[in-house]
Amino acid sequence: MEQYQQLLRGNKEWATQKIQEDPEYFTRLVNVQRPDYLWIGCADSRVPPNEITMTQPGEIFIHRNVANLVIHTDMNMLSVLQYAVEVLEVKHIIVCGHYGCGGVKAAMSNHSFGMINKWIRHIKDVYRLHETEIKELSTEEDRLNRLIEVNIIEQVFHVAETSIVQQAWKKRQAPQLHGWVYDLHNGIINPLIEVPAGSPLPHAIYQYDNLEGAV
Ligand code: CO
Repeated sequence: MEQYQQLLRGNKEWATQKIQEDPEYFTRLVNVQRPDYLWIGCADSRVPPNEITMTQPGEIFIHRNVANLVIHTDMNMLSVLQYAVEVLEVKHIIVCGHYGCGGVKAAMSNHSFGMINKWIRHIKDVYRLHETEIKELSTEEDRLNRLIEVNIIEQVFHVAETSIVQQAWKKRQAPQLHGWVYDLHNGIINPLIEVPAGSPLPHAIYQYDNLEGAV
């Protein structure tokens, strides 16, 4: 059997098992998608959102990319965000990064990695904002870990800086924003920051004052 066929075989086993445990499982899922959470996470294969939070299909709306970035011109992320906030009306948005993130590590180096330079360039900008604090740390590992943390916090504010979220805050006093970091060594998620709906932004220049009909 080809290696990839194991995935299809695994899928059949999973579907059979689900029906055995709960004959209505798929019928229920087909009929309604009403997740309370939007998860913006790293594409890293070691950080599967449902598995590490013990949630089921249907519970988390998920967007993943290299180093869990929220870039204000990224149509893919913005489409997910708009749908999650305006149609699904999620209550929480979680940006979850992880220690040992290869994307952040690459951004911290001076090495060129090809096309992905354009993407991780955004992490270099985060580094520049926090350079003084990061440089004070004594080991390379500590510096990398801190950049991973401040990158998550910056991305949470990027979410808050969108007109999509600011409109929702005004309209329904939600969603709440969270920045979490996952530790590959022990499987534990540590919360770094919580931003309740309506919080003032760290930089007022990103606050919109004419949100009616804004995109
Ligand atoms: Co990563």
